[in-house]
Amino acid sequence: LSCDPAQPPANTPVAAIVVAAGKGLRAGGTVPKQFALWHGKPLVRHSVESLISAGIAPIVVAIPQGWETVAAAALQELPGIVFVHGGATRRESVALALEALAEDAPAHVLIHDAARPILPRAVIEGLVAALETAPGAIPVLPVVDSVVRGSDGLRRAAVERDGLYRVQTPQAFDYAAILAAHRGWTGGAEAGDDAQVAEAAGLPVTLVPGDEALRKVTFASDLETAAMPVSTFPRTG
Ligand code: CTP
Ligand code: MG
Repeated sequence: LSCDPAQPPANTPVAAIVVAAGKGLRAGGTVPKQFALWHGKPLVRHSVESLISAGIAPIVVAIPQGWETVAAAALQELPGIVFVHGGATRRESVALALEALAEDAPAHVLIHDAARPILPRAVIEGLVAALETAPGAIPVLPVVDSVVRGSDGLRRAAVERDGLYRVQTPQAFDYAAILAAHRGWTGGAEAGDDAQVAEAAGLPVTLVPGDEALRKVTFASDLETAAMPVSTFPRTG
């Protein structure tokens, strides 16, 4: 084989982890929210399909003990899915899914909440592009409302909103770096997010534009109202 210098480098393999091992206690319902039907499909299937369309593979899906059959049905006929059992906290579920990729390590990994069904292609592309120059990248939106600190129902102090962001998923990392960061984490069972685990390991994390559509389903009412892109709202007439 000759090496053609005009040839661009091969696409760096990007794997994904979708954490779907929570109990969905705040949302309630008869099944954990990630398996609830939403716009005709189980919630978890929406973002997994978006990752597959973007060429991401494999996709490790962390699921709760006892939900194997439901999870398999929710993602049936989708290629490149690997199931693992999650842990007692989100961070532990991520760590277990990262270990499942260790034998055939990808260059990069996207770590996503199953509870965020709408995953715009532009966000995936922004994250993957940012990994060319940093070991970590996360999607954020600037805080636009005023922010105050309060306690006991009283406003205590204004918080300068400049430089404050809301953090979303997927969060994207060099695979080897985030695996090492999780293995070395000493901050307890849970973490705020994977970027916090990265920060504790000294990894710089780039901010890329998030998307309002990436909002997380937390309460049952979010399953009714979670924002859909306007173009995909069912039309009448
Ligand atoms: N998650 C997970 N493993 C856990 C806890 C959470 O994989 N032990 C996943 C959830 O399935 C969800 C994402 O992490 O996709 C974000 O967590 P959250 O919205 O808090 O979901 P739950 O923990 O399931 O909900 P709740 O906190 O209301 O019980
Ligand atoms: Mg939770």
